[in-house]
Amino acid sequence: MKSIVVTSGKGGVGKTTVTACLGRALAELGNRVVLMDADFGLNNLDVVLGLEGKVVYDIADVIENRCRVRQALVETRTRNLFLLPSSHGYLGDKVTSQNLRLVLNGLAVTFDYALVDCPAGIEAGFTRAVGACDGALVVTTPHISALRDANKVIALLLSYGKRPTLIVNRVRGDLLATAKIPSKDEIERILKIEVDGMIPETDGVYGFGNIPSKPFDLLARRIHLGAGEPLDLAADYRGLFGAIRRKFGKGGK
Ligand SMILES: Nc1ncnc2c1ncn2[C@@H]1O[C@H](COP(=O)(O)OP(=O)(O)OP(=O)(O)O)[C@@H](O)[C@H]1O
Ligand SMILES: [Mg+2]
Repeated sequence: MKSIVVTSGKGGVGKTTVTACLGRALAELGNRVVLMDADFGLNNLDVVLGLEGKVVYDIADVIENRCRVRQALVETRTRNLFLLPSSHGYLGDKVTSQNLRLVLNGLAVTFDYALVDCPAGIEAGFTRAVGACDGALVVTTPHISALRDANKVIALLLSYGKRPTLIVNRVRGDLLATAKIPSKDEIERILKIEVDGMIPETDGVYGFGNIPSKPFDLLARRIHLGAGEPLDLAADYRGLFGAIRRKFGKGGK
């Protein structure tokens, strides 16, 4: 099993959304995938997946031996995609990297991928989740404050020997086509690592149901098969028809 922590530095850039959408895409490629919510206290992966009513046991029950890890898993609507819910707060700082590692070890026989949704920031919650996982994925948006935080997080991850996968979320194709936000190449120059996924800004996101699946399919293939390029989100906004779309259409794709 490959365990990947989903992190960002800056809060609210889409870690939980990306965890859910990428998990679904990896499962649709035929992998068995578990999503672990390691954002204790502010956990909401269950809500994004629409599973909050189905949670019986959580990761605290597993760590404190009140149940086996299998009993805490919640089945999602996607085949081969499961959630390991977070504790409801009180366990917080008592959890260590080693605790999480033990839980991940318990999942390793059943799953091909574990995606671990990490809290914002670079404090205790970040270090314990990063320490427990083999790989890392950094989510940013194309905005200066998010890019600055991504830069810090990437440097930290590299210092731990983890070269992260990089996702740029909430990209507006019209702004990309008119160079009002940095392009993929510019972001690669700023952050000095390759961009592996570009996800469009999408209207009316509630949970993860209406985010387009194509960019995540491409990302999942890139992660699982090591092949493929991110979507060109500016393509629809170039040329004559693109100019009309920019003027009258919406920024999201
Ligand atoms: N591509 C997108 N297009 C539009 N809205 C998005 C997109 N991705 C995420 N969002 C919205 O942005 C908000 C923050 O997303 P999310 O909760 O996934 O971020 P987060 O990084 O996990 O936040 P936190 O740091 O608080 O854990 C949510 O309302 C979500 O629906
Ligand atoms: Mg989150």
